Amino acid sequence: MRVKIVAGNWKMNNDMKASKSLVKKVGKSIKNNPLNNTRVIVAPTFVNLERVVKKAKKSAIEIAAQNMHFEESGAYTGEISAKMLKSIGVNTVILGHSERREYFGETDQLLAKKVNTALANELEVIFCFGEVLADRKSNNHFNVVESQIKNGLFHLEANAWTRIILAYEPVWAIGTGETASPEQAQEMHDFIRKIVAKRYSQEIADEVSILYGGSVKPSNAQEIFSKPDVDGGLIGGAALSAEDFKAIIDAI
Ligand code: 13P
Repeated sequence: MRVKIVAGNWKMNNDMKASKSLVKKVGKSIKNNPLNNTRVIVAPTFVNLERVVKKAKKSAIEIAAQNMHFEESGAYTGEISAKMLKSIGVNTVILGHSERREYFGETDQLLAKKVNTALANELEVIFCFGEVLADRKSNNHFNVVESQIKNGLFHLEANAWTRIILAYEPVWAIGTGETASPEQAQEMHDFIRKIVAKRYSQEIADEVSILYGGSVKPSNAQEIFSKPDVDGGLIGGAALSAEDFKAIIDAI
């Protein structure tokens, strides 16, 4: 049975104190509430990762990184390697976020390399993709999503897919307050599952968790999560409030 996941991407927010306090609050809030087949993940910025890992140790929260470099090590000033993440107890990394693609020029080809390095180091990957507004307006959104998934992931062997989580994040819905409708999310998630089934197998397609991201809030989470192919969310803004994040976890 595929797993449900609520993941908070804190992006470039929260200093050390705020990060520790937020993870503590979220940990407390889910403590007395058994997480029925649901994983809760938060992704702080690099400098706060190790402390947040420690703070979250006794809770059910897992910690992810927001990015990593594709090389194992070397002269890459300012970069962070997969092994560095593993060495502080991080087991999951977000790759391909639209902000990385847009502001840092990350291409499908570069992301494919990052995915390989992450998997080679036994990291799990939350792989993000999604169309911009112009693609949706011109009815090109399925093609865009298919090519991002194909170029970033379809070179993988079938057995790698146990360590892949997909996150559909339409760029026009990120941080805008505008969400995809539950029907739009379902339609895309169903499409994604079909292309994974075609490339690999129905079994792999049925097992992979597909998260929706883009202005998920307590007020809309339940409706989005109620769709059969939406297995949870990748949450930005609302993950910065322990109360809102908890409400979204409850919605699942
Ligand atoms: P918002 O929830 O702020 O729209 O951000 C979504 C996102 O980008 C998560 O990775």
